[in-house]
Amino acid sequence: METNKQQRKKWFLSLVLSLLLLTLLILFSIFVSTDSSSLPSLYRTRGRVEEPRFVESKLRVSSTSSSESVPRIAYLISGSVGDGETLKRTLKALYHPRNQYAVHLDLEASTQERLELANFVKNEPLFAKLGNVRMVVKANLVTYRGPTMVTNTLHAAAILFKEGGLWDWFINLSASDYPLVTQDADRFVPLSLLVAWGGGGGRMPDLLHTLSSTPRHLNFIEHTSDIGWKEDQRAKPVIIDPALYSVNKSDLFWVTEKRNVPTAYKLFTGSAWMMLSRQFVEYLLWGWDNLPRIVLMYYANFLSSPEGYFHTVICNADEFRNTTVNHDLHFISWDNPPKQHPHFLTINNYEEMVESNAPFARKFGCNEQLLDKIDTELLGRNEHGYVPGKWFDRTNSNTTKPYSAIKNITELKPGPGAERLKRLINGLLSAEDFHTKQCS
Ligand SMILES: *[C@@H]1O[C@H](CO)[C@@H](O)[C@H](O)[C@H]1NC(C)=O
Ligand SMILES: *[C@@H]1O[C@H](CO)[C@@H](O)[C@H](O)[C@H]1NC(C)=O
Ligand SMILES: *[C@@H]1O[C@H](CO)[C@@H](O)[C@H](O)[C@H]1NC(C)=O
Ligand SMILES: *[C@@H]1O[C@H](CO)[C@@H](O)[C@H](O)[C@H]1NC(C)=O
Ligand SMILES: *[C@@H]1O[C@H](CO)[C@@H](O)[C@H](O)[C@H]1NC(C)=O
Repeated sequence: METNKQQRKKWFLSLVLSLLLLTLLILFSIFVSTDSSSLPSLYRTRGRVEEPRFVESKLRVSSTSSSESVPRIAYLISGSVGDGETLKRTLKALYHPRNQYAVHLDLEASTQERLELANFVKNEPLFAKLGNVRMVVKANLVTYRGPTMVTNTLHAAAILFKEGGLWDWFINLSASDYPLVTQDADRFVPLSLLVAWGGGGGRMPDLLHTLSSTPRHLNFIEHTSDIGWKEDQRAKPVIIDPALYSVNKSDLFWVTEKRNVPTAYKLFTGSAWMMLSRQFVEYLLWGWDNLPRIVLMYYANFLSSPEGYFHTVICNADEFRNTTVNHDLHFISWDNPPKQHPHFLTINNYEEMVESNAPFARKFGCNEQLLDKIDTELLGRNEHGYVPGKWFDRTNSNTTKPYSAIKNITELKPGPGAERLKRLINGLLSAEDFHTKQCS
């Protein structure tokens, strides 16, 4: 009896023990599968390691949004001291509820000027309602021709990336740029213009409309590896930008020592105006591959870095070089050969500008007569107003309360500019030398 009892007790004890062990094991496996991060690293599962992000492996480029849908564009519009008013005008001419906007006034602009712009962004009823315009509140000191121009662009891109939702392209403009096409227009085209542009129907598509059928992975960036005179005047001299460390603005200065042209990667140069895909901007910001960072540090001592940084990164990254379209989407009037500054555009440039089919032009003086002509003839925008489109109908809108007329923002109504733009983009993409012009 006594031994039997003991045996039973033993048996019971081992049952309890094994049950306990089983429960522990089950609990443990649940923990491991649901929340690996809460466990010490020793026990972390290695489930997600199938896409290692090492330099040696192929980059995994994130996918683009469906080209069926209407794209969204993220714009940065920046200016410096005295640009507040022109910046507002450019912003209104570019505005569309689907897009995202960041505006930046250089730290050199007075606090009052920046406050005024901040108040405008905050109090404009349309922006307040849709929340798609933001000011870079922590303003940067930007030195002309210095690397702080690139860091400023990357800063705004990062803000738009974090807060702007899912946009498809990033476009960097300055206050002295102006659009030549509407984002989406709903306006009747005069017959004379239709004939002049060789258009077919009464209403034609615009920027967003044209871009709806453009592959989302493409980067519009004008570039060349033929750096020519820039080798001696840009690549070899070493500059320092005081805005990287100083509170007050001062000009760049040169180091007496010169450096060699890089051999670890190839330098490219081109226009400082571009339209970059979300994927490429993501690559620049995250730098899963060290290339964007290394090249950024190299360009910290390079004169006019916005004309080289993006071009050098994109052409040295195998995953992106085939996404380049060699055009900057701008009409700019340069001297021949180009000098440091482009011409200010005047009314005499109108024809040539329209015929370029480009969606943007620069550079405009403030209150330039040409801007009014663009407003009335190309954009159908009235003074101080927005550019009418399907989302906002001029006929029954009220300038003091335009947002009350917002209609459907995914439905686009074709306007005249897109026929021109379509011609430009189709021409670029179907050109025989399209591939030979990529990073050559
Ligand atoms: C971006 O915009 C500024 C204008 O404020 C311009 O100077 C700069 O070169 C542009 N381009 C890039 C790539 O940052
Ligand atoms: C920067 O500029 C302000 C205003 O001009 C001046 O008061 C200040 O002393 C300057 N700071 C330095 C470090 O030079
Ligand atoms: C890019 O295009 C070239 C030539 O068309 C091709 O040989 C290469 O494999 C392409 N690279 C990628 C990453 O698709
Ligand atoms: C526009 O809106 C304002 C404010 O709501 C109103 O007072 C005014 O009468 C409106 N104008 C028109 C033409 O509807
Ligand atoms: C807006 O228009 C699109 C395309 O015509 C349609 O699919 C969508 O349902 C509309 N949305 C609203 C809110 O009317």
